[in-house]
Amino acid sequence: MTGGARLAGEVRVTGAKNSALKLMAAALLAEGVTVLDEVPRILDVSIMSELLRRLGCVVEGVGTGTLSIDVPAVPGHEADYDLVRSMRASISVLGPLLARCGEVHVAFPGGDAIGSRGLDMHIDGLVKLGATVENEHGYLIAKAPKGLVGTSVWLDFPSVGATENILMAAVLAKGTTVIDNAAREPEIVDICAMLTAMGAKIDGAGTSMLEIHGVDGLAPVRHRTVPDRIVAATFAVAAAVTHGDVMVRNARSEHLEIALDKLTAAGAAVSALDDGFRVVMERRPHAVDVVTLPYPGFATDMQPQFAVLNAVSDGHAMITENIFEARFVFLQELLRLGASIRTDGHHAIVRGVERLSGAPVVATDVRAGAGLVLAGLVADGETLVSGVHHIDRGYDDLVSQLTALGGSIQRELEPEPRF
Ligand code: UD1
Repeated sequence: MTGGARLAGEVRVTGAKNSALKLMAAALLAEGVTVLDEVPRILDVSIMSELLRRLGCVVEGVGTGTLSIDVPAVPGHEADYDLVRSMRASISVLGPLLARCGEVHVAFPGGDAIGSRGLDMHIDGLVKLGATVENEHGYLIAKAPKGLVGTSVWLDFPSVGATENILMAAVLAKGTTVIDNAAREPEIVDICAMLTAMGAKIDGAGTSMLEIHGVDGLAPVRHRTVPDRIVAATFAVAAAVTHGDVMVRNARSEHLEIALDKLTAAGAAVSALDDGFRVVMERRPHAVDVVTLPYPGFATDMQPQFAVLNAVSDGHAMITENIFEARFVFLQELLRLGASIRTDGHHAIVRGVERLSGAPVVATDVRAGAGLVLAGLVADGETLVSGVHHIDRGYDDLVSQLTALGGSIQRELEPEPRF
């Protein structure tokens, strides 16, 4: 891509990757046809669809935005290594399958190279619900032949994945489960909304205390995926760094409060639209400090994008990464583009430079990839981002969307067809 174009126009965001994948897993909790709308056309959805097919589900509509998942009376209970390895979110079938089948074998995950990302809280929660969990030949094997029983679970950290797995196991457990220090992300609220429509009894969605009253069975529903706040924020920052004027449609600004406040502090004019918001930037951005924290704190998935904003700002700022220690690997790539950054542990000081300078760079995870694309949009000359399959995992045709806004960006390699 060639930097320098000012982005202007409007862009529509689809449903959230981090919600859609879990809604697909939640479908396993009910026999019959679940229909999900606003499903993003991304690689991770293809991988999750294949995983569900191998469990005996019939999945249709991949790539159309509306997915139908026909779940059999008795789904399979094994998630293969080749799929789980390529997408960590596969482990979200753990809770639903344990609840439905009383036994589940899930390969230990891989996915983004962004830190150790343990499973201890997932496992502890399921054990408290009465499961036995063993690690054999690279597989995590959880069993609860007599069913799960409601309990109290306190999470050391409000882990998104652990909250979801324990929640999806608890909806069919006997009695009441309380998850304390639960994650509060909008995607968790979305899953709770779908589970509730399916017949689950859940109090406290969006708070740090979830109370789940187990029911005997759930029914399939049609559900619309919550808009992707990270994709929305990516376009918002794209507008800011290119001194652009972008209307981001199908976005929920209440899920982006800190990020939009930071953009305002950086000098952007952010205004509300009926179905989203508009970001106008007429000057070089000021640098803004960011500290990543669980929701409602500043999202770690927006950290690379804001690092790029700071890299071209007129000051200096501190970025503190509290969620994934390895996320700063991305900053090494920004250095290749001429950014001025010093890191110390989980802090980075970014000093803005007048211009970045295009170079070949490598995306190491989905959000790093988005950050590098934003950097390429403002770097002098040509930037070549490799590892684009990472971007395909979470962005629904980012190249076309940026081109439509006036960005000068081409895709050299077509996406590999998957499943
Ligand atoms: C999800 C999102 C990811 C986002 C992250 C934090 C999906 C598919 N991914 O990831 O985009 O960046 O939330 O908002 O939804 N941890 C443990 N033990 C556990 C579980 C987690 O130590 O049992 C640690 C992880 O190593 C990490 C932190 O907790 O340092 C946060 O992880 P978690 O909130 O679980 O993130 P994910 O669900 O993996």
